[in-house]
Amino acid sequence: MTTVRKPLIAGNWKMNFDHLQALAFVQKIGWSLNDIKHDLENVEIVIFPPFTDLRSVQTLVDADKLRIGYGAQDVSQHGPGAYTGEIAAEFLQKLGAQYVITGHSERRSYHGESDELIGKKSAAALRQGITPVICVGETAEDLEAHGAAAVPLQQVTAVLAELPENPEVVIAYEPVWAIGSGKAATAAQAQEVCGAIRQKITELRGEAFGEKTRILYGGSVKSENIAEFMKQPDIDGALIGGASLKVEEFTKIAQFQKHITV
Ligand code: 13P
Repeated sequence: MTTVRKPLIAGNWKMNFDHLQALAFVQKIGWSLNDIKHDLENVEIVIFPPFTDLRSVQTLVDADKLRIGYGAQDVSQHGPGAYTGEIAAEFLQKLGAQYVITGHSERRSYHGESDELIGKKSAAALRQGITPVICVGETAEDLEAHGAAAVPLQQVTAVLAELPENPEVVIAYEPVWAIGSGKAATAAQAQEVCGAIRQKITELRGEAFGEKTRILYGGSVKSENIAEFMKQPDIDGALIGGASLKVEEFTKIAQFQKHITV
């Protein structure tokens, strides 16, 4: 299988950094990534700051011509209107956001988001030309009761059911037990589930969709383990939480190719 999928290294800041901290951080990341220009030709870097930082990040990325993409951590399923507290995909599109995270496990568990809602949010993003990064993953209890792949496959199936034909999406497999725990899945475990996800989406949406769609692993990724994940045939990148908040560590992760000796 010839892989045309461009590796994606994505930093989910979660609720960290106000807009002033974001400016300082992105500036540092920009300098740091400039030093590794060479690797960046083949690796896409995207950050996901809080909503309130996005305008500042946009201004800095534009002014300094930084080769960093950015997106939001959530989006409304609705278009603009009477939905207090929500943020429409239309607004994100105006801010130059190329991506939006949908269905992160923290939103699923703290805000009770269902697969159907996550599908609708993803569809709202797609209507504005924004690529949803759809998160799926099993809890420790799910793992115990059903094995690793069952819940992620069920979530992917339910979310895809809400999407139009041949959508441009990214899928992030994030086992809930691995998030923020320091206990990442092994590369083999992650490959097994990401491979099963690719098989499932191919079955549901055809060969071309399965072949083009990038699947990320997330959960306690750091510079020491990124290379192992990236060697796997069905893992096209990583969604990184804690380690994306440290300039040096995030830059090292972006340079994962240097650590790969196949
Ligand atoms: P950590 O990298 O901190 O485990 O977080 C992963 C995550 O939830 C990214 O979305």
